[in-house]
Amino acid sequence: MFRLRQPHDCTIILVQRGGYSCEDAMLRSIECSGFKSFDNFNINFKPGLNVIVGPNGSGKTNIILFLQFLSSLRRSPIIEAIGQIGGAGSAFRRAKFTTEDEIDFRIVGSGIYNTFDERKIFSGNYDYSATVSFSKNEGTIIFKKQRLKTFIDKNNDPGLFSLGDLPPTFDVETKVAEDGQVITTIHALNPNMLRYSARNDEEVGRAQIKDASEHLSKTYSMLGYLDRIVDSIDFPGQDLRGARSYNILPYKVREPEDIANSPFIEPDGSGLAATLYALQTEDISIARRYAPIYYSRPSYADAELMRKQIIDSGRLVNDAIVDIRVQPDPFESKLRITVDLDYGENLVRLPFSMVSDGTAKWYALVTAVVTNRRLFAIEEPENFLHPHMQSEIIKLLRNQYSASVYSDEYEVDKFAIITTHSETILNNCKPDELIIVNLENGRTVTHRTENSDDLSKEIKRTGFGLGYYYLAGAVE
Ligand SMILES: Nc1ncnc2c1ncn2[C@@H]1O[C@H](COP(=O)(O)OP(=O)(O)OP(=O)(O)O)[C@@H](O)[C@H]1O
Ligand SMILES: [Mg+2]
Repeated sequence: MFRLRQPHDCTIILVQRGGYSCEDAMLRSIECSGFKSFDNFNINFKPGLNVIVGPNGSGKTNIILFLQFLSSLRRSPIIEAIGQIGGAGSAFRRAKFTTEDEIDFRIVGSGIYNTFDERKIFSGNYDYSATVSFSKNEGTIIFKKQRLKTFIDKNNDPGLFSLGDLPPTFDVETKVAEDGQVITTIHALNPNMLRYSARNDEEVGRAQIKDASEHLSKTYSMLGYLDRIVDSIDFPGQDLRGARSYNILPYKVREPEDIANSPFIEPDGSGLAATLYALQTEDISIARRYAPIYYSRPSYADAELMRKQIIDSGRLVNDAIVDIRVQPDPFESKLRITVDLDYGENLVRLPFSMVSDGTAKWYALVTAVVTNRRLFAIEEPENFLHPHMQSEIIKLLRNQYSASVYSDEYEVDKFAIITTHSETILNNCKPDELIIVNLENGRTVTHRTENSDDLSKEIKRTGFGLGYYYLAGAVE
């Protein structure tokens, strides 16, 4: 889960007493019925790379859409979250000539807590389940049921907790009754988790939770609204905050950009100029205005390092590239990227609009990976990329998403997802990174390789990659 790097001494004492903050989280598993091709669907994620592979139409993109749905649940009302992935007609599962009217899901994950007063660090878990109901007659989408539990890991050192520093157990459930009334049940609540104003009076805290639940729980996910009352309760799915799913189109990467564009790589690959420009000027104030970069610690503290990483990775496509810079053109309000090439005798400066499709895509991918430390997915990274670059992207992802060092003291788990049809990409993957997806009777099913040890040995022995074995049907 997390590894202490050194015994932590209490050097930082924050003024606020009591309460917790959740430093980072990782989604571990999803169960779902009623969403697109999901019926008794389940999937689990591991730290590092999760490579989703399977035939066309098996449900790979649906998995990524579900993650996007989870991500927007945190801030948008349910009707908008469904809207953002194509509306109820496409999100709710179609079966037996009708559309099912409920999506049932449960997500489980883990996170790192940090107590405000003594800066103790311990690990916890969350378990969130919900039923989303769609009424065609009334044209409404609501949460029919929700339950959110957080609890600490049994493996924590009991010495971490002193009196008054109780571990963050929390368990609240809401249900919509026949008459439309919301019934809230608080199964467990550690008052230390309440926000400061309510903490002194637990009853006030409970009343606030009930009141908010009755007003908001039909339309909003608990993940969002309880945050106003309960400390760090929004950590479930925190790793999805700022998460994106990339499907990069080279012409989008090459388009000249407006000076006012946000400094992050959009799912289609646009935003490279704005991101590189923010890194180049180390403009933290700009970066802070935009969620993905703001949330991706350690933000822009090491902008120069990120820029160097992007330039170095660019050299893998073309080793003559010495620099990539952005020139602002305030007159036209545009940002223009130029690439400096060292061709021995002469230095050449090329406008980015002249680079090849593969180069454009490569820069957008690398910049996305380097600047966004949150979980994200890349759909079919192989398109436009030379086989050599396909293996490089795997190396880069593995490097960036295994475990990330959050502070000098400990590391937290990270994961990234790719979907792929490329044998070359698979050849660079390890058997235990694979998630195999199939469509069985209209239902998406996933499994991990059962024979991964045997396969690893075979791969070592023969020198043939995993892709070869997958296509030969030897991956079970
Ligand atoms: N609302 C829905 N109800 C039932 N099935 C659905 C619904 N929406 C999509 N599907 C099914 O999901 C499947 C498409 O899944 P998806 O787009 O995730 O495939 P994929 O694995 O990404 O394929 P490709 O490799 O071609 O990109 C299709 O079989 C489609 O019938
Ligand atoms: Mg797809």
